[in-house]
Amino acid sequence: MARRTIIAGNWKMNKTPSEAVALAKELIPLVGNDNVDVVFCVPFIDIVPVVEAVKGTNVKVGAENLYIEDSGAYTGEISADMIKDSGAEYVIIGHSERREYFNESDAFLNTKVKKALEKGLIPILCCGESLEQRETGVTIDFVRYQIKCDLAGISADDAKKIVIAYEPIWAIGTGKTATSDQAQEVCQAIRECLAEIYDQATADAIRIQYGGSMNASNAAELLAKPDIDGGLVGGASLKPDFGEIVAAG
Ligand code: PGA
Repeated sequence: MARRTIIAGNWKMNKTPSEAVALAKELIPLVGNDNVDVVFCVPFIDIVPVVEAVKGTNVKVGAENLYIEDSGAYTGEISADMIKDSGAEYVIIGHSERREYFNESDAFLNTKVKKALEKGLIPILCCGESLEQRETGVTIDFVRYQIKCDLAGISADDAKKIVIAYEPIWAIGTGKTATSDQAQEVCQAIRECLAEIYDQATADAIRIQYGGSMNASNAAELLAKPDIDGGLVGGASLKPDFGEIVAAG
């Protein structure tokens, strides 16, 4: 079953609004691959200017987080409606940096996924093991646990809209990429888990990205694997290399 490749940049906490517009304009001519969905996930404050900068191009914009309530006394938080009205279409949920530094639990992330879907945003739901978990041999058990918790109570029709990003924590920002076989093994296990939760047709429809030091030289090999349908790219998404990754998709 053909799944459309999706390459998303995760800009993390980088780029002021004016820097973000300059980067978007630099990257747009490099990412024109008709076979690939291209997304720039940017800091909240950059969403409006970057949406403006990508108008009329193939690039979509995403947020990097959202809050679970619609409005009210939650000082400093940003709602799904605010993100959607700003013109973003995607939202990263459960990145390992949020799980670790902001103590986001699977139960909380499950609520975020539901809120994003309710408001018509496409969640890019992240999962992935630590180095200790990999060395202990519990990678697949742990990632299955995350997927089951994060998708609890979500229908098959809604699940088909979600993009899952498998990001081994030890590979993020370290320059240490999972081998294509390691990445494929876990992405395949995620798809098997989705088939258990839902059914094979639903599992076959859901796109699974790999993330963790994806770059211009390893992207093609990773993206050639049968269960890897794209990439969530951190460091290399801030450079012209992102264009080479999109071209490999
Ligand atoms: P990296 O980050 O590509 O810099 O490893 C990936 C991510 O955190 O999404």
